Amino acid sequence: MFSSPRLPLNLEPNALARLVQAKRRAGASIVDLTQANPTRAGFSYPADLLAPLADARALDYDPQPLGLWAGRAAAAADFRRRGIILSADRVALTSSTSEAYALLFKLLCDAGDHVLVPQPSYPLFEHLTHMESVIAVPYSLEYHGAWRIDLDSVRAAAGDRARAILIVSPNNPTGSFLHRDDLAGLAELAVERNLPLIGDEVFADYRLDPSPASTHVLAATEALTFSLGGLSKSAGLPQLKLGWIGFGGPSAKVDEALAAFEIVADTYLSVSTPVQAAAAELIERGASIRAQILARVQRNLASLRTQAASFPAAAVLTVEGGWSAVVQVPSVASEEALVLDLLDQDGILVHPGYFFDFPREAFIVVSLLVEPPAFDQAMARVLPRVAGRP
Ligand SMILES: Cc1ncc(COP(=O)(O)O)c(C=O)c1O
Repeated sequence: MFSSPRLPLNLEPNALARLVQAKRRAGASIVDLTQANPTRAGFSYPADLLAPLADARALDYDPQPLGLWAGRAAAAADFRRRGIILSADRVALTSSTSEAYALLFKLLCDAGDHVLVPQPSYPLFEHLTHMESVIAVPYSLEYHGAWRIDLDSVRAAAGDRARAILIVSPNNPTGSFLHRDDLAGLAELAVERNLPLIGDEVFADYRLDPSPASTHVLAATEALTFSLGGLSKSAGLPQLKLGWIGFGGPSAKVDEALAAFEIVADTYLSVSTPVQAAAAELIERGASIRAQILARVQRNLASLRTQAASFPAAAVLTVEGGWSAVVQVPSVASEEALVLDLLDQDGILVHPGYFFDFPREAFIVVSLLVEPPAFDQAMARVLPRVAGRP
């Protein structure tokens, strides 16, 4: 009955998830350095932050497949805040970035078609593609003091069935922003092969140390582009379920894409009216949450670098933005053994690099969202264990 190829072949939890469950059942406390939920990270959310959701405008149901104008204008204003000029009629609303991917795959792909995804990157791509009967074909990001896209690997991955190229900027977990030269190479391929570029820019507000040459996907004006964002990251409010897609590129292509997207979105009409009506105010009020999150990730990254300086065997890779840091560690044991050991003996949960499809071992990934005292204490235990005593 549950043999759909959309589902993972193996529904069993992996060894790390099993150990987490066992520890929690036994009442053990775990310091969770994979924590990525801003609502559970000790930020101060004003009690009346969500008051705009009670606005009387939301008592009227006006089903608009691309979203209510007020919500689309709010998303366009959010692009403007980041220096990107986009008219509200080039914006569509979704209930999340995940839904944006699902709708775009329905728009662009037939079953069995390919979308190109960065590697290492967001683990959910595997499921988001499977759920739409689409195949995720990886291309490589390479680290040479900073992460860059290996354009040859993108070309090699772009076979006959390729239908889109996904870019995550800043990328989760590498924290790398899209580089202007990489975008130029991708845009050239996109135009040559008539492939749209989908840019996941949900972490764009969290700029830590971006290269001056960093850019955004809508800057590729000659190709059809989609830029994904949402309240989940830009206002630290994932529970409100509001995402958006900015459409870019030549007008004729954008108009055609919007008309077709409207049919897909009209099938679901999944975005609630209150969140669309309140979007502008929520984004404005979200400024205080954004500021708290940025200060936290900056602070934790600085602290991680200071601590790691005493452990030459542990290298904190360059982080340009986002909410996580990657630490390269000696591969004396497998990543799996390392993270199981950390959890078992120190009660500290970190992500292994393989979770994000790093091409080789050994890396660990830590969330920079964790509350500072817990973060510092946990890293003081993690570093000697993964890198040996200084
Ligand atoms: C790269 C990336 N895109 C999208 C999301 C999720 O966004 P949403 O809550 O809007 O689905 C995440 C969540 O961690 C993410 O890491």
